[in-house]
Amino acid sequence: MHRDAAIEGAPTRKATCRAGSNIAFIKYWGVADPALNIPLNNSISMTLAGAHTTTTVAWDDSSSGAADSVTLDGVELQGASAARIVAHLDRLRAQAGVPWSARVVSNNNFPMASGIASSASGFAALTVAGTAALGLTLDAARLSALARRASGSASRSLFGGFVEWERGSSHSSSTARQIHDESHWPLMDLIAIVSTGAKHTSSSDGHRLAATSPFTAARTQHVDEWLATVRRAVAASDLALLGPVLELDALAMHGVMMTSAPSLLYWQPGTLEVLHALRAWREEEGLPVYFTIDAGPNVHLICEAETAPAVERRLASLPAVERIIASGPGPGAQLLGEHLF
Ligand code: DP6
Repeated sequence: MHRDAAIEGAPTRKATCRAGSNIAFIKYWGVADPALNIPLNNSISMTLAGAHTTTTVAWDDSSSGAADSVTLDGVELQGASAARIVAHLDRLRAQAGVPWSARVVSNNNFPMASGIASSASGFAALTVAGTAALGLTLDAARLSALARRASGSASRSLFGGFVEWERGSSHSSSTARQIHDESHWPLMDLIAIVSTGAKHTSSSDGHRLAATSPFTAARTQHVDEWLATVRRAVAASDLALLGPVLELDALAMHGVMMTSAPSLLYWQPGTLEVLHALRAWREEEGLPVYFTIDAGPNVHLICEAETAPAVERRLASLPAVERIIASGPGPGAQLLGEHLF
């Protein structure tokens, strides 16, 4: 194809990036400014080594206004399913002031249906590969702000280890930064997959609904105190300090979700089976393990690396658990020398 030939002839317009997904200890849920994706509160996360997206972007500099082509996990996206990615390509084009079309190929190393957020790793990788292929040199804060426009949690996946997204009050001040690198604390996230069905309400719609819950005011009133505790707990590698606040904010967020109009109920019977089992392991057996839950039914069990085999063994014996994905802290988004096409 002529277009592909033009891309092959211009290797400097092609770049590939790998970025990890992340799990938030204090959640982003609710937007102060929906157009800019400015959140109601700061959030803190751990970037995951074991769940990542690799994305190659190639710009065709002989094209103007042609359609983009987007292939995700081997499937060519058409129309509405590609719209969110094309909207982000539009931001990258605007940044560079070019009309070029792009070819994007992206692969996740975790199943899409696993309920792990692919938007965080996917949009972080797309931002870094897309801007690099355009020859733009943006610092980490500007890349984070750009990724945030596509997906809030993607602003955090730019960085490795433990990351805080500062809420900010404008496009350029709402950015994430690393607070400790990935070698700081060998914490593990054991993701108990209890249901692989597609969720009914996307995070993007959920963030807007948060404004309808009477519990949002209570959560935002307490969240600065919880953030301070999480910062101290992560700095001191203190799971006994981190764990209770991790669970508190996850439950507060799900309280907001359940009391939104319309009400969002992401939990499934398997979610509760894991929560009750985890409490019993902790209270009756003294196993130091805590949970958090994103906008879906799967439970993230957070423990230290030395406890992980014991937790994983117990999890595997629960009938509700279909699969377990285990991950420690991983690196930030990085450009790779090898491309996907
Ligand atoms: C529950 O970043 O997925 O995982 O900006 O619409 O892409 P969009 O939302 P997204 O929301 C993340 C929600 C969460 C909590 C978190 O990761 O902080």
